[in-house]
Order: sequence, then C-alpha cells, then structure tokens
Amino acid sequence: MVSTLQLEVAHSVLYVHDREAMINFYTDVLGFEVTDRGPLMAPEGPEIIFMSQVANHHHQVAFISGRVKPEASNNTHHTAYRSSGTLDDLKALKKTLDADERVTQIMPLTHGNAWSIYFRDPEFNGIEVFIDTPWHVKQPQGKPLDLNAPTDDIIEFTRATFAPEPEFGPIGDFYQKRADYLAR
Ligand SMILES: [Fe+2]
Repeated sequence: MVSTLQLEVAHSVLYVHDREAMINFYTDVLGFEVTDRGPLMAPEGPEIIFMSQVANHHHQVAFISGRVKPEASNNTHHTAYRSSGTLDDLKALKKTLDADERVTQIMPLTHGNAWSIYFRDPEFNGIEVFIDTPWHVKQPQGKPLDLNAPTDDIIEFTRATFAPEPEFGPIGDFYQKRADYLAR
C-alpha cells in the first residue's frame, strides 16, 4: 500500500573530509549556524554537526566526519535551497560567491520557474540557491542567467524566453492544478 504521509525535504547529511573548513564555509558564506554537535550513537562515534539558518528546522544540513577524499561525488548531483529573497538578494549572493576562493563552478541559471545560482562548496558538493519566478513551465529547462543585468531586464528576459515553451503560465495556476490533482 502506498504511504499517504505528506513529506517535505528537511535536511541533508553529508559525509565531510574537513569538518571545520565545511563549518566555516557554510557559516561565513551561506549564513548557517551550528545548532548542536556531538558524537553519533556512541561516545566514541563520529561527530555530527547540525546546521540551520531558520527557526523551524533544527538542522537543514549536517556533517559527519569520515569522508575519505574531498572529491566530487557521483551520488548526489546537488542540494537545492529555496529562498524567499529577491533578485537583488541573488545578485548579492553572486558577488559573495565570486569573491570567495573556496567556491567553484559558479553558474547562474534560470529554469523559467526559478532563478538559480549553482556552485560547489569546498568539498565539491553541488549546491543550488534559488528563488521562485512568477511562472510555471514544463521542465527540464535551463538558460544562462545574467545577474549583472538590471532586475527588470532579467524578469522580461525570463518571461520572453519561456513564454513559448509548453505549459507556461502563472505559478499559482500550476499549484492549484497540483492541489486539485492531489485531492482527487
Ligand atoms: Fe535543482
């Protein structure tokens, strides 16, 4: 029987190579704080470090030591963090990332339904920080996003680029359709 529990993505737990370097990065750049830390399961167990930057999640990401090599993983493509911020906030994040030598592979993209910056943390984990656009469009989609452009131009570029694509329309209509479908 299929579960009827409603699920929400809450956190990722990453094996890390250099705990303190990872803590510093997530703290300095993305604004997380350590909410708890301690040995896992047994007193001599590996340390787990819980990190959050919101009130209603004890942790959104956690680190466990034990990663042998800090190389790109072939397991997880990326972890995405959705923000309620603005395009100006995203532009500011881009500047922060550009100025930080620990960050690699910075790639701003728009999927039509999101404005995103993809990048890699110091241990090459893929991260996406995105904000919603006002639209839905059939996925997958991806076009380079020029975060140096004026905000109004970004909005108009996104609308014009994805308007001809299938299912393009207001995001509210898409959410309503999904809600109706799930309530069937
Ligand atoms: Fe994504």
